[in-house]
Amino acid sequence: MIEMKELSKSYSVGGEQVKAVDNASFVVKRGEMVSIIGHSGSGKTTLLSLIGGLTKPDSGSVVIDGKDIWAMRDNKLSEFRNRKISFIYQFASLFPTLTVYENIILPVTFGNSHMGYASSWAMQFCEAVGICDKMGCYPSQLSGGQQRRVAIARAFITNPEIILADEPTGDLDEVNESEVLSFFKKLNGEKGTIIIIVTHNSDLARQTRRQMRMTSGVITTVESEACQNLYIMRNRNAMDGKYTKHNVRSELQK
Ligand SMILES: Nc1ncnc2c1ncn2[C@@H]1O[C@H](COP(=O)(O)OP(=O)(O)OP(=O)(O)O)[C@@H](O)[C@H]1O
Ligand SMILES: [Mg+2]
Repeated sequence: MIEMKELSKSYSVGGEQVKAVDNASFVVKRGEMVSIIGHSGSGKTTLLSLIGGLTKPDSGSVVIDGKDIWAMRDNKLSEFRNRKISFIYQFASLFPTLTVYENIILPVTFGNSHMGYASSWAMQFCEAVGICDKMGCYPSQLSGGQQRRVAIARAFITNPEIILADEPTGDLDEVNESEVLSFFKKLNGEKGTIIIIVTHNSDLARQTRRQMRMTSGVITTVESEACQNLYIMRNRNAMDGKYTKHNVRSELQK
């Protein structure tokens, strides 16, 4: 379970403070697949990097399976992050001097995962998303969408408990987008992997059980079946506006 409590992060740009994330609180339980939508610059990437232990918040906490990650020492945090979390970055992040296959299996070469399993898994994934003929190619020989699929395969190879995916299907065509989404759903359903997807695609967002919207750093709305029922049961107006940790918590515990 991931619990974000009153997370804030500002940047100083040209002498002005930009509040990239403003007092964000929510909980994601094991087995949940959640999407975050919002305009460009609304703070989605910053939020993912606070959750994933890459950017330190100015205030607030991120508690994963009972551990406050920002209270950990650097080496403990790196170890925790490598063991539990995989990122799919918004922009291509492949190593240019490694082949597709080497890029995909790179994370398991640092850990204890079984290489034979990882290798056959990489082939299966690449077949599912149509890039198995590219295994020996270098990233510069691939299209943007193909590079994206390699980055997705790499994120899954360590069998992480949490996937933080920043616009994972941004440059994919509809067929590949749907293959990748099926893969996310399969993993989420079978292994209970927490998947948080940032997307501009509202159709994709609707396929997750819960959708959040960010506006100027603030999580403004959360929609899910549970929330919708709650809206109806209580006064619709009562849940509008800023989503605080208290109403997120109580809603999710139902
Ligand atoms: N390293 C940084 N230094 C200064 N400002 C930053 C930095 N990273 C983000 N920002 C600012 O914080 C705000 C949120 O940026 P962020 O990248 O989180 O937005 P986003 O919602 O992911 O946007 P997009 O949809 O375009 O990817 C923006 O105003 C951005 O300019
Ligand atoms: Mg972004």
